[in-house]
Amino acid sequence: MRRLVLPFVVTLGLFSCEPNQPVAEDPLEKKIDSLMSKMTLVEKIGQTAQRGTSSRVKGKLSDDLKNAVREGRIGSLINVMNKEFVDELQRIAVEESPNGIPLIFARDVIHGFKTIFPIPLGQAATWNPTLVEEGARIAAVEASSYGVRWTFAPMLDIARDPRWGRIAESPGEDPYLASALSAAYVRGFQSEDLSDPTSMVACAKHFVGYGAAEGGRDYNTAVIHESLLRNVYLPPFQKAVEAGVQTFMSGFNELNGIPVSGSEFLLDQVLRQEWGFDGFVVSDWNSVTEMIAHGYCKDEKDAAFKAARAGVDMEMTSQSFENYLQELISEGQLDINQLNRMVRAILRVKFRMGLFDQPYRVDNEELILSENHLRKAQDAAIQSMVLLKNENDLLPLKSTQKFAVIGPLAEAPLDQLGTWIFDGDKENSVTSLTALNEIFGNGQINFSQGLDYSRDRSKANFDKAIMAAQQSDVVLFFGGEEAILSGEAHSRAHINLPGVQEDLLKELKKKTKKPIVLVIQAGRPIVLENIISEVDAILMAWHPGTMAGPAIADILTGKANPSGRLPVSWPKSVGQIPIYYNHKQTGRPASQESFVGIDDIPIGAWQSSLGNESHYLDDGFEPLYPFGFGLSYSKFIYTDLNISSDSLGKHDELTVTFEITNSSKNEGVEVAQLYLRDHYGSITRPVKELKKFKRVALKPKDKVKVEWTIDKSDLEYYNAENKLVVEPGQFSVFVGANANTTLKKDFWIK
Ligand code: NOJ
Repeated sequence: MRRLVLPFVVTLGLFSCEPNQPVAEDPLEKKIDSLMSKMTLVEKIGQTAQRGTSSRVKGKLSDDLKNAVREGRIGSLINVMNKEFVDELQRIAVEESPNGIPLIFARDVIHGFKTIFPIPLGQAATWNPTLVEEGARIAAVEASSYGVRWTFAPMLDIARDPRWGRIAESPGEDPYLASALSAAYVRGFQSEDLSDPTSMVACAKHFVGYGAAEGGRDYNTAVIHESLLRNVYLPPFQKAVEAGVQTFMSGFNELNGIPVSGSEFLLDQVLRQEWGFDGFVVSDWNSVTEMIAHGYCKDEKDAAFKAARAGVDMEMTSQSFENYLQELISEGQLDINQLNRMVRAILRVKFRMGLFDQPYRVDNEELILSENHLRKAQDAAIQSMVLLKNENDLLPLKSTQKFAVIGPLAEAPLDQLGTWIFDGDKENSVTSLTALNEIFGNGQINFSQGLDYSRDRSKANFDKAIMAAQQSDVVLFFGGEEAILSGEAHSRAHINLPGVQEDLLKELKKKTKKPIVLVIQAGRPIVLENIISEVDAILMAWHPGTMAGPAIADILTGKANPSGRLPVSWPKSVGQIPIYYNHKQTGRPASQESFVGIDDIPIGAWQSSLGNESHYLDDGFEPLYPFGFGLSYSKFIYTDLNISSDSLGKHDELTVTFEITNSSKNEGVEVAQLYLRDHYGSITRPVKELKKFKRVALKPKDKVKVEWTIDKSDLEYYNAENKLVVEPGQFSVFVGANANTTLKKDFWIK
């Protein structure tokens, strides 16, 4: 670290800084005023520093670190995962630092702490904000027991490209679903009372556009025009502010030429001025100094200046603020009021967390991995699973059958946990093999893994697996990706089943002709083009977490009825990506009627005889499975769609009603969805946009009437001037089971 030179310390560091901006009569702001009036410049800069260690290094407490805390030169620490260290550092901060300002301990608690829930993309597939909220609350109770009072979640990046490894952590492709989940995560982590020592401050990340990385390559360039940004990428973040989120993280990425950690437009204009956010912004890991590599800053000092000017309040791990803010202020480059604003925001959150009254962690060790937590994790895993294919009602399994359990993820306790599980232990995982053995006993299960891990290229054990299949009635193939193949920096260009899993599936089918159930555990949709016809049923289980095994077994056996729905469109091939349901119409929209596939083109066909529409000759224009899709063991029928009027004013409400019938013998849950289409606008509008959804439980033969009200907030969008408007014209309201639904009514806005 670059040491501050003495003259600055003498001229600035020993005295408290200029008076802070007088702030209203708010008692909290007065407390901050009073505290800040006692703080030296060095202490103020200290609050903006978050020091960290890599997530795996548990290490020992260095004297340097203790001294830095003692001198008030650190505001927060990331990844201190030893209860004693946490207690000792907090004690030093509170008892020995000049003004006794407590530290905030931070950690990536993304989908559970010790009790691991499904990866966030899986949780999005539940379409169940209440369950997501409960999961976040459980994570907070467990993590806070270790002193972690700040999590870097939820990740709210809209993701339209499954090659991007971090799609696993995302809420999927849709802004409305993502917004609902955003609020749920914030409520869950922060609880009703942020000063409760079992709550965690949430962090809306990665602000913004990180998920739009070119080609799905992590950390890459994002180009998003402003109305697209406001209509698609910003809403989940705005919702987090409305839900009271206390921190934001500026992403690694550049957006439209400016790295986010240096973007005044995003961090100041949008976040603070437009949305009124009064918490603080932390940079992503080194993202301040990475602005040099981006080619946006000359050196570390320039990076510190641009980040502070833009609105980064705390710097994660890189130390440009520690090294240069004092110099920048003394030279008059950076206004001291800017630093005061940064520190004020950080202290505001520390006060709201109750840290000044109760700085120490509350040990809840007995709640960690409790029965209740595990039950919720299992429930979340069950609700996240999406049944994609079920020919001849192969599922649920019949209790008298014999099953071959094959594949690299049948007994993969670490991989079932998924990405970002720093604190999850594989020892606590219940695998699919264990769960199935428990239900059926060894007599009905023939286990032969066939492949040791998902990327395994050895065919040495194929014969054994084929023999196990021959001795069974049904093959249960547990395929997918190891956890390490998705998540940060883990983008893939080919997103089919890795290794020789496809070859094994093909051989199993060819040599045994047994029906095959493919259970996929993966961090992203998997391209199935080479094997879709080899398998009879497909269950997408994502990476389901600690209770993967019992959850998968419950679904396979019919104890639970699948109710997960896709939070992303599922591509047929990599070549179709990006593919998302809320795309634009184009001037030449693709249509089934005029589409001519590559194999149907007459030899020597005339250049413009093929319909001239927007599609691929070889893969058409539709995904393999649409957004919102998911099968069930029940059968749901939508009827009687009615709207209260076909003509309304911009501020009027529209009542939409329809009925869902469960025509099957199985009790189940349907995720009813409502989409709107705005047929024309002052800028072009998506073909459909999700505006409502609801999980509806139906007993056999039940008929349920659903009623929704559409109002201005559902009809408006950001136009070319970036103004929120409702424009007159034709609209359609669609209801149904997924984004492909055609059940609709039209209405007009006058
Ligand atoms: C980098 C990741 O992008 C971010 O999501 C995470 O919170 C930080 N590292 C801290 O681990």
